[in-house]
This record gives sequence, structure tokens and C-alpha cells, in this order.
Amino acid sequence: MSVGRMQISDAQFPILYFCVEQEITNKFGSAFASAEEQDLSWHAAKLTVREALLMDENKKTVGFTETGRREISAEDHKLLAAAEHASEQAWAPNSGFHVGAALLLEDGTIVSGNNQENTAYPSGLCAERVAVFYAGAHYPQIKPIRIAVCGYHPERKAEEKPAFPCGGCLQVLWEYQQRFNTDLELLLFNEHKVYRFSDIGQLLPFAFRLNEPRA
Ligand code: THU
Repeated sequence: MSVGRMQISDAQFPILYFCVEQEITNKFGSAFASAEEQDLSWHAAKLTVREALLMDENKKTVGFTETGRREISAEDHKLLAAAEHASEQAWAPNSGFHVGAALLLEDGTIVSGNNQENTAYPSGLCAERVAVFYAGAHYPQIKPIRIAVCGYHPERKAEEKPAFPCGGCLQVLWEYQQRFNTDLELLLFNEHKVYRFSDIGQLLPFAFRLNEPRA
């Protein structure tokens, strides 16, 4: 196992994704912009992020651990298998990208989800949100412990890097952990490695929240 600290500014990391997603949505009104449009937004997002980082030096790095797929516990293995099984049943005719998410609850229940695309593109939903909203609907009182996520193009699964949750999913995961006053662990994995992030808050330091009402 190795421990890493990754500079947000050097990596394609969630706050960047979040800004890119917002930029794309603001400019083009769709989460499915062309590569060229995404590239433009990417540069805009990087500027935004640099400004944001100046505000808080402590938010510059994100900690995670990296483990081989065979080095994890039996419990984690079961969770990864559930996420992988879910990914195999994804409905992704538009992107061809299959995502699976499996959420472990405190009582041992595992809830899974996969991406569900739609011809009206923005009507589709990511795997993480399918899983978390299912948990919210069916197990509203049971604390979530960790969520495992994998994403890949089936035809090149062996070479894929781990897929990172999009900004919208991070917002939903973050709010779900806040609701239970807990830290939700995130496991990202591919065929070879497992990356463990100790809580969602560090991945979305500028999560949206409503302002407290004034006294
Ligand atoms: N997707 C997810 O399921 N989760 C994420 O966090 C990011 C992206 C899905 C949405 C879409 O169906 C496909 O991956 C390609 O963007």
C-alpha cells in the first residue's frame, strides 16, 4: 500500500471537474459538450481553481491510499464485486462508458447502481447518484460507510484508469454524508488498483450549501 498526496492543480481532480461541469452547463446548457467545448471550459476552470486555492492554502492537496486489488479485505472485495457487477448492467448506449457504484451501509446492506443514459441526454443519471438515491429512498435511517466506484469502456477495460465521480455526484455524496454526520469513504478502482479517499469533504472543499438564515 502506498500513501499519496496529489496536488489538485496538477491532477484532473474533482473541483476542476466541478468547475468544468458548471462552465459547460452555464455556457452550453448540456452536460454533453463536444471535446473542443470541454477544452475551452477546462482552461476557464483552471483559472477559477487557482483563484479559489489562493483563498485557502490548506485545500491544496488531497490524501489517498493506493492498494493492489488483491491486498484488500474480504469486506472491501465484496463491495468492489457489487460495483463491478452493477457496471456490467449499465445502460450507456450514448457514451459506451459503463459505471458501477456500490454503497455499504452500517447494517451490512449493499446498495448498488449504474449509469442510466437517456436519448434526452440530461435526463440520464450517474451510477453514484442512482445508488445513493436508492439508499435514501429505501434505507433513509441507515448510515452509509463507504462507496466503491468503477468506470470503463468495456472494450478497453484492462487499460482504464480509475474513473473519478463527477462534481454533481460529489455534491450528492457530500450532502449524504453530512445528513448522517459521518465521513463517507470512497474507493475508486480499476482492474489493478484501489484508491481510498477518507471522506468526500476533502474532495469538494467548495461544496454548495445554502447560507444560514440570518439571526
Ligand atoms: N458517469 C457516472 O455514472 N458517474 C460519474 O461520476 C461520471 C460519469 C456516467 C454518465 C454517463 O452515462 C457516462 O458516465 C459518460 O459520461
